[in-house]
Amino acid sequence: MSNWPYPHIVAHRGGGKLAPENTLAAIDVGARYGHTMIEFDAKLSKDGQIFLLHDDNLERTSNGWGVAGELAWNDLLKVDAGGWYGGKFKGEPLPLLSQVAERCRLHGMMANIEIKPTTGTGPLTGKVVALAARELWADMTPPLLSSFEIDALEAAQQAAPELPRGLLLDEWRDDWQALTTRLGCVSIHLNHRLLDEARTRMLRAAGLRILVYTVNEPQRAGELLRWGVDCICTDKIDEIGPDFTF
Ligand code: G3P
Ligand code: MG
Repeated sequence: MSNWPYPHIVAHRGGGKLAPENTLAAIDVGARYGHTMIEFDAKLSKDGQIFLLHDDNLERTSNGWGVAGELAWNDLLKVDAGGWYGGKFKGEPLPLLSQVAERCRLHGMMANIEIKPTTGTGPLTGKVVALAARELWADMTPPLLSSFEIDALEAAQQAAPELPRGLLLDEWRDDWQALTTRLGCVSIHLNHRLLDEARTRMLRAAGLRILVYTVNEPQRAGELLRWGVDCICTDKIDEIGPDFTF
């Protein structure tokens, strides 16, 4: 089993549902609740800047519109990514990965960087994010890179093979072992609904660490951890806190 420095509980998109997702303010909220690790979604602007956003499009979580990856950073930095959530967060910008790394350093937090390429940009996003992560986290605990996009994980593996990688699956795949082996993954990141105790045992026996998302029921989180799951990624950062016992 690989070296695994990460805690049991990970704050989804920085601050779960208690702040506008994937912002610096969200990371601050996660830290305020004592979390020591966050997950967030990283993609590229048209001119190659790495920033945080979950969707391809800007509409759901900002006052911008259209495909974010088709805009240059100069335009993206004007977008308000906090006002949609509530007045208190109005004016909160889209953060650059470099700013996120600094915020993680400030709070002493570890990171799960989900590589979330704009459709059609998997290999480039995987490479650029991995190279940047290597530099930005050089003197911190290595960030755990993950992606649903196999070509992005392949590119990350090529670019920065030493950084730990996790394969994200929203649907079960029978070729999970061949795939995680080929991609040199230390972990598999599953929708928690895909997991039962037998599968947990099987994945652990194959030497994989297991992260599950998005678990918002304390009872379910406890069950999963007792089975041997390593990490719970949660939106309920208050009820499933860093000292969660199981
Ligand atoms: O990385 C875990 C989880 O964030 C994956 O799903 O859609 O919330 O990015 P999503
Ligand atoms: Mg994510």
